[in-house]
Amino acid sequence: MRRAVCPGSFDPVTNGHLDIVQRASTLFDEVVVAVGVNKSKSRLFDPDERIAMLERACAPYDNVRVDGFSGLLTTYCSEHGIHAIVKGLRAVSDFDYELQMAQMNASLTDVETVFVPTSPEYSFLASSLVKEVAMFGGDVSSLVPDFVNTALIERLAARRAADEA
Ligand code: PNS
Repeated sequence: MRRAVCPGSFDPVTNGHLDIVQRASTLFDEVVVAVGVNKSKSRLFDPDERIAMLERACAPYDNVRVDGFSGLLTTYCSEHGIHAIVKGLRAVSDFDYELQMAQMNASLTDVETVFVPTSPEYSFLASSLVKEVAMFGGDVSSLVPDFVNTALIERLAARRAADEA
């Protein structure tokens, strides 16, 4: 069984992430989308919400499942018999850091990193930018699944109301 992990923060999942997950699902027998649940970082959506959104978004893919992990990604891979990490590369600027992480991860356990070039229509897409644009009222409906767009609008409105209270 060829098993791979697509790790990330997914705060929130975007159509760019889903493009990589879908393509990984054609390359491997099983793909685990692993959500980093590191509590030290402040996120818009908590781990359970991010996992639930991914489960809904990945439902069409039979060989994709979603899980959370904390600690080292390589520990997760070792514990789950995973020997491939799939990462999307949007641009050359992603490469330096991703290469460093790939080499570090390979030094820690028996794992290869497979880089998948992001489809051109998503090359500018990042969760952080989606949140910033949505925060200022921009339309991100073409960049994330519909239910994520709704959740974003609701969460940002709730944050604004709390800040103004
Ligand atoms: O979506 P992101 O924020 O780019 O995802 C980063 C993530 C979660 C994939 C990365 O930070 C990670 O692998 N974290 C787990 C901790 C770890 O293994 N660190 C060593 C990396 S060499």
